[in-house]
Amino acid sequence: MASITIRNLDDEVKDLLRRLAAENDRSMEEQARVMIRAAVEGRLGPIGRIDQIEKTLRELTGSYGPTTPIAAISNQMPRGILSGKRILLIIGGGIAAYKSLDLIRRLRERGALVRVVMTSAAQEFVTTLSVGALSADHVFTELFDRQDEHDVGHIRLSREADLVVVAPATADLMAKLANGHANDLASTVLIATDKQVLMAPAMNPRMWSHPATRRNRATLQEDGIAFIGPAKGEMAESNEAGEGRMTEPLEIVAAIKALLDISPKPLSGRKIIVTSGPTHEPIDPVRYIANRSSGKQGHAIAAALARLGADVRLVSGPVGIADPAEVTTLHVETANEMKDAVEQLLPADAAVFVAAVADWRSETSAGEKIKKVAGEGPPVLRMIENPDILAGVGHHRQRPSLVVGFAAETQDLVRNAEAKLKKKGADFIVANDVSHEGAESPGVMGGDRNKVRIVSKAGVDEWPEMSKDEVAARLAAVIAERLKTIVV
Ligand SMILES: Cc1cc2nc3c(=O)[nH]c(=O)nc-3n(C[C@H](O)[C@H](O)[C@H](O)COP(=O)(O)O)c2cc1C
Repeated sequence: MASITIRNLDDEVKDLLRRLAAENDRSMEEQARVMIRAAVEGRLGPIGRIDQIEKTLRELTGSYGPTTPIAAISNQMPRGILSGKRILLIIGGGIAAYKSLDLIRRLRERGALVRVVMTSAAQEFVTTLSVGALSADHVFTELFDRQDEHDVGHIRLSREADLVVVAPATADLMAKLANGHANDLASTVLIATDKQVLMAPAMNPRMWSHPATRRNRATLQEDGIAFIGPAKGEMAESNEAGEGRMTEPLEIVAAIKALLDISPKPLSGRKIIVTSGPTHEPIDPVRYIANRSSGKQGHAIAAALARLGADVRLVSGPVGIADPAEVTTLHVETANEMKDAVEQLLPADAAVFVAAVADWRSETSAGEKIKKVAGEGPPVLRMIENPDILAGVGHHRQRPSLVVGFAAETQDLVRNAEAKLKKKGADFIVANDVSHEGAESPGVMGGDRNKVRIVSKAGVDEWPEMSKDEVAARLAAVIAERLKTIVV
């Protein structure tokens, strides 16, 4: 069967194909296949009619006007998604090294600048000649190379990259880095770099499952090394299957994009307040009234909003979990402290009230520990109402454009949430059923999963049960969508 040789296409078409492929996150071959399929299905019209081709290109890529000539389309298209990003690729000595040739092509198609270091074992599998031709650069192999050391050197090599990718990462390279060895160029670069490292391991399943490799992987993960794969499946060696295949190049490209954080940031420039965790209402210096909230859901929402680019201010009650990365966290104890912190953070674009704020507190808090006195019986606590933080902000003169409340209910979930929506001045209420809470078997409050309904004026949207991180990501996307329509 005939195959497409992109190299033989004329330059204008090749260039157009490259840009379309990068824009659609496809390889050039895949992009060509999409276009050929369109032609076969008759969607291109008679081949050669330029206006028909333009029409199809518009359908494939979105937003180009009916009279835009092909050359102009080509110029308007965004350059590759990895345009200008510098990837240092370290190729280790495994059979999967051949896939790294494809990885180089995929990265370059997307505009990345790829510089390659090969171990001496890697050169048994693929040649520096092919790697150099594909990367269009000198390939670095020697630690003690007068020319390389003079021109670039291992320190500069490791620093002049945005990301270091090891593919395939051999058992040996993992062991070296986990134990701090630096006895060739690849291992020295890895230990000298100040950049994020992504490893794509590839090895025989027995090598992968060996306790030494497991230990090394755990150590590397603790050290902040990111991993992709290995995948399960047939190994290049005959009669071998299991976990150990190197992840496919396009998936490695996706991981690289995620690590370089080049996904769009719909919430950048937006300030969002999030409250999380329980509050502790003191009875005396050692006793307090609390609830089972762990803060997991609120913290996950803060982190998800930050990932979408928001400037997140998290007001957290006392929790046993870490502050989320890239979020400014303020720690408070009581409902009153939480209210003050939130009000001081206004104005904001949105506020998400996830914290389980105590409805009541003891009217008095003893200055000294309340003593058990024989014959006097237990102390009687008079409870008073705490401020309603959600309602306060929902009706505040500096009310954020979007106010989201959470309702933890044990009965009449939707009816209570609908009532809360009106009373509190919220745009929507995320309602969850917390009727199965208990220290023995944590339900929504202590656990890692949640099942919520989004109650708004538009109605009730029931989400399936999912992890709290997934709820957070989905809610952050909803918030981003809502804020998109709100012009400030
Ligand atoms: C045919 C053959 C295939 C190999 N495949 C792998 C592999 O897929 N993964 C791996 O970790 N080691 C593999 N090895 C072993 C490595 O090549 C060996 O551990 C080498 O020292 C790795 O060097 P490096 O980590 O400096 O690249 C293979 C060896 C041979 C002879």
